[in-house]
Amino acid sequence: MTISSVLVLNGPNLNLLGQREPEVYGSATLDDHVSSLRIEAQKHNISVDHLQSNSESELVTAIHNARNTHDAIIINAGAFTHYSWAIHDALRAFEGRVVEVHLSNPSAREDFRHVSVLATLVNGTISGFGGYGYQLALNSLIELSQ
Ligand code: DQA
Repeated sequence: MTISSVLVLNGPNLNLLGQREPEVYGSATLDDHVSSLRIEAQKHNISVDHLQSNSESELVTAIHNARNTHDAIIINAGAFTHYSWAIHDALRAFEGRVVEVHLSNPSAREDFRHVSVLATLVNGTISGFGGYGYQLALNSLIELSQ
């Protein structure tokens, strides 16, 4: 299936990228990452919608709405990754492809970050490449769709 529209979701605290623990997450802002992703997406005629939310409820609702509007989801659920069964279930009800992204490599960090409750239902996970992970996720979706 050709990909023409992607929803990018970023969870709690990712609005603070650039200020928050730059030694872990880098100095670029979330806007910087989304802008770079949009430039890459334009080359492939793919539209990118983006939502950052600190609210689990808003993220769940966005995933529900994407069922009718988007071909794929790229999600960095932040700390919700590790315990949000509500986001897990919402993604389970989404029929398109899903790629999980983390800027850092959670497996190399504290124990509580080693489990992703999303990992069993996403198509794949990209971790540890900073903001470039969003572009890798997009390119993975394009590759999978060919
Ligand atoms: C993160 C990793 C999570 O463990 C953390 O809670 C985040 C960011 C990442 O992008 O590396 O907020 O998802």
